[in-house]
Amino acid sequence: MEALELPGFWILLKIWTWIRDFVLSLACPSLIPDTDKFGAKIKATWEIPGPTIWRPVLGDALTLNKFGGPEKLLDYISSLHEKYGPIFKTKLGPQKFVFINHPALYEEIFRPEPNYPIRLKLPSSEAFYEKHKIDRGIFCRDGKEFCRGRTIMAEVLLKVAGQYMETLFDSVDPVLKRLMDHWTTMSMETKGGHIRNIEQDCYEFFIAAKMTMTYGQHYETFLSQAGSSVKTLASEAIKLNAATFDLNTHPIQIATGFGLKEYDEYTLKNLETGRKCIDIALETMAATGGSSEEFGLLHRIKNVYNASDEEMRVYFTDMTADISDQVSLTFLWILFSLGRNPDVQEKILQEIEQVCRPGKNVVYKDLQKLPYLNTTCKEVFRLFSTAQLVIRKNSNDVVLGGYNVTADYAVILSSFSSHKNPSFFSNPEKFWPGRWLGEERDVDTGEVKRSENAYYPFGMGKRMCAGKLLAYNLMKLFIAKVVQAFVVESDEVQKKLKIMLYPNGDMNIRLKSR
Ligand code: HEM
Repeated sequence: MEALELPGFWILLKIWTWIRDFVLSLACPSLIPDTDKFGAKIKATWEIPGPTIWRPVLGDALTLNKFGGPEKLLDYISSLHEKYGPIFKTKLGPQKFVFINHPALYEEIFRPEPNYPIRLKLPSSEAFYEKHKIDRGIFCRDGKEFCRGRTIMAEVLLKVAGQYMETLFDSVDPVLKRLMDHWTTMSMETKGGHIRNIEQDCYEFFIAAKMTMTYGQHYETFLSQAGSSVKTLASEAIKLNAATFDLNTHPIQIATGFGLKEYDEYTLKNLETGRKCIDIALETMAATGGSSEEFGLLHRIKNVYNASDEEMRVYFTDMTADISDQVSLTFLWILFSLGRNPDVQEKILQEIEQVCRPGKNVVYKDLQKLPYLNTTCKEVFRLFSTAQLVIRKNSNDVVLGGYNVTADYAVILSSFSSHKNPSFFSNPEKFWPGRWLGEERDVDTGEVKRSENAYYPFGMGKRMCAGKLLAYNLMKLFIAKVVQAFVVESDEVQKKLKIMLYPNGDMNIRLKSR
């Protein structure tokens, strides 16, 4: 390897890469004009800065390995942004990527978005659907078949507020109370209030909360008739996440060739539970009629949007089988952040006691009256957004930062990087909810700093997270209940990226009843 990295070899290689890309750009002329609207010349893709890639199969994967492998992907990307600026290109395995980390470039991606923007799929799920010939759920659909589902989900989850949301969240209240009671008991039994198996608890809580919202009061019966339980779904989701990471960090042919049996097994089981649950729920609803209070989102979508049973299967299988990891992990990061910032806990408690009253059971209706609670949640998503990279796959060439980016490149918005950029967030590593309430000022002008356009924990545009409001409000309720019930302590922990942002090792959380 050393011999190949002689300076002369590098120069020759660089020249060869330039010539190759130049010839390719002549052979495949782009539909993009030569100049932008201001008359400035649009540069070719090969001119985008980035590391020289001379390993056709591995791309820059070996450099990533030097950083500590895929778990250190964020450090690798940060180092390249530092070296090359807000836009750079690289290749990891067979896929070519352009990374961007500036709000002006985000705008250039989202403003002209087509009707059906495409997100790059995980090789594991693509290989899985290909192998088993299973119809894709709503998360993995594209184009027109995705559109109706997305429109309905957005109507139901993003645009609707008021009475309906209130009912939905009130149904989660007993689930949250059960968790707080469990932690109260455990904190009294263990040394220093240490909560064992906290990851499993967070998964179980979110699965129970999401099942209550989607299937209503009978979800535990549906699950047991489908041969599963919240506990089983939680432990399988944890194992599935580990298997997904393993599968996606090996070249896919090798990984699937060797089977990675666990991934297949858990995914099939998960989907089967999802399908059975929805069938049982639909049968029960058809037999009994019922209401949205009784059957949650399921009833609403069926009745308000007149969705067919097959559509309901597509929309709800994922809701049973997927999206547990993002939210459950965020609960962990909330506990961690609160534990490291006792002053924040006190301020939240004071706000609740002033605005509501001491000991009041905070409910959905109270949330908009609690700005400090709201910004604590925002700050958790700024520093610990579990989805750290937002991905778009363009069907045509696009212009980004004055470069023509050809359609074979996936564009990645390094939102984690702009979330920590000192030009947008002063003292970016500091957990500081007050920064969103006007406490953060521009050093030069003294004006309140507004950095909303550098903040994308839920993505943006037409494929923005459909569960954003649901997730935000659930987080806020969780924080309010935790702070009312406990003083939280946590130990420092490193982060690692395993598709989502994980703590590197066990998270040590101690809860002391107030
Ligand atoms: C911690 C909580 C969550 C985070 C950080 C998160 C983040 C994200 C991100 C970054 C995307 C991609 C957006 C883009 O490409 O522009 C996404 C997509 C999506 N999320 Fe979430 N999400 C969370 C919770 C939820 C919940 C609770 C639900 C469902 C109730 C949900 C439903 C969806 C759906 C349906 C999509 C796909 C949207 C589409 O393709 O059009 N998410 N989420």
